[in-house]
Amino acid sequence: MLAGVTEATVVLPELFNTGYVFRNIEEVRDLAEPATGFTVTELKKVALAQKLNLVFGFAESKNRKYYNSSALITAKGSVHIYQKAHLFDREKLFFQPGTGSFHAYPVEGAKIGMMICFDWFFPEVTRILALDGAQVICQPANLVLPWCQDAMKTRSIENRVFSVTANRIGMEKRGNISLTFTGKSQIVSPSGDILASATERSESLKVVEVDIAQALDKHVTPANDLWVDRKPNLYKTILRKAV
Ligand code: ACM
Repeated sequence: MLAGVTEATVVLPELFNTGYVFRNIEEVRDLAEPATGFTVTELKKVALAQKLNLVFGFAESKNRKYYNSSALITAKGSVHIYQKAHLFDREKLFFQPGTGSFHAYPVEGAKIGMMICFDWFFPEVTRILALDGAQVICQPANLVLPWCQDAMKTRSIENRVFSVTANRIGMEKRGNISLTFTGKSQIVSPSGDILASATERSESLKVVEVDIAQALDKHVTPANDLWVDRKPNLYKTILRKAV
């Protein structure tokens, strides 16, 4: 998936170089890498040589713990890491949830935010990224539930941001565990238009040029500006635990 910013940004799926289904923690240990490891180092060379921003998911090892992480390597060689906060199902057996917050990072002409797959179920994530200034939200994914692609249209609309979901296709079978990924990677505009959509079954690369100014304009109608109309003083309950 590729969204044109000023530079091109390429988004790859979650855990793109390890596969998603781990049978045991030893497999994770063998495949996980530090953020200074081989994968990030080699892809940094690609980002610099091709003048690309790259976003991809990888298994990160840090202080003897493992994270389901996403890296943004900018065309200038900066590396930013996001550790998935909302772990899905068996991921909880192997990974620590990320405790860092959600940030928008500058690339040439835009700010990019990262979330990973199941983070979509928590609208707070996209809202915080948009409030931090993200105009493009990149979502490496290995989706198995059927609702995310539709939900990301809403996330784009309610935050007036572009979203890029790079999902996996096909089935992964390890031992007695098998998962089928939903494909349908997509790029969505701040108005919820699907600018590019891949199929469920075949590999594809979709290229879209976007006008970042659309995500800077937070007007919904001439009288409604998303940020001006927010009422944060009414939203304090959101910080409480559910009863
Ligand atoms: C998922 O979060 N990979 C479903």
